[in-house]
Amino acid sequence: MHLPNSKPKPANWKVLLSTPMFLAALLFPISAYAEGESPSPSPSASLIESPSPSPSPSDLEGFPTVYDIDTASSPTVVVNKQRPLYPKTYVPAALKKFPGSSAKLAAPARDALAAMAAAMKSAGAGTLVLNSGYRSYASQKIIHAMKVSQLGLKAGEALAARPGYSEHQTGLAADVSAYKQGCAIYTCFSATKAGKWLAENAWQYGFVIRYPYGQTKITGYQFEPWHLRFVGLEIATDMRSKNLLTLEKYFALPNAPKY
Ligand code: DAL
Ligand code: ZN
Repeated sequence: MHLPNSKPKPANWKVLLSTPMFLAALLFPISAYAEGESPSPSPSASLIESPSPSPSPSDLEGFPTVYDIDTASSPTVVVNKQRPLYPKTYVPAALKKFPGSSAKLAAPARDALAAMAAAMKSAGAGTLVLNSGYRSYASQKIIHAMKVSQLGLKAGEALAARPGYSEHQTGLAADVSAYKQGCAIYTCFSATKAGKWLAENAWQYGFVIRYPYGQTKITGYQFEPWHLRFVGLEIATDMRSKNLLTLEKYFALPNAPKY
C-alpha cells in the first residue's frame, strides 16, 4: 500500500499549550503521595531556580490532538451551510494543477489524489478523472445560480453550495469519475468499479466521501459519491475505524441541513 505524505499537523501546539488542562497538568502534576503520607521537604531554592525544560512533543503523548476546523487554509477546516469560509471570498495561496485536467487543487490534496489515482489504476479500477477541484467564489456563484434555476431552490441547494460555503473554494475537494465508466456527477457513480473502489479505499489517501448516502439531514446535501474531501490520513483513518460518516459527527458539530 502506497501512502502519500499526507499526515496533517498532528497537533496545534499553540492551542494545546494554552489549554487550562494542559497547563494545570504541567504546573500541578498528580501527587504521588497517598493521603496521610508526608511529602519530602519543600524544594530548595536552587531547585526552584532551575528552569524546567520546555515540553517536547513526546511529553504531550496522551493529550488529544487538536485540529483547526475554523481557518480556511487549514487542511481540516469544516465548511457547511452553517460554517461559511472566512472570509467568504477566500482564495488558497498555493494551487497545483492536476495532471490531465485543467482543474487545480491545494498541494496536499493534489499529491494525495495523484497517489490515489495511481493505486486505483494498478488495482484495475480505472483511470481517475478530476472533473472539478478548486472553484473560486465567482465560479461557485455561477454554479449555484445554474443549479437553482435548473432544479429549483431546494433541490438546487442540495447539490450546489452558495458561494463562500463550498469546500471546493478551499482547494481540498475533488469531484471525480473514471474514464469510460460513465455516471460522472451522478449517484450511479457509486455502482461503477471506480466508485466502489474509492468508497473502500479513499481513506487510505486521506480522503472521505463528504456527502454520504442517507446523511442529508446532517450535511445538507444529497448523496454525492463523486465528491471527495481531503482531510488527511489521520482523520480519514479515524473516521473509518469509528464508523463516523460525516465531519459534523466526527467533530461533534451541529447538523447543518440549511443556511
Ligand atoms: N456540491 C457541493 C456541495 C458544492 O457545491 O460545494
Ligand atoms: Zn464537489
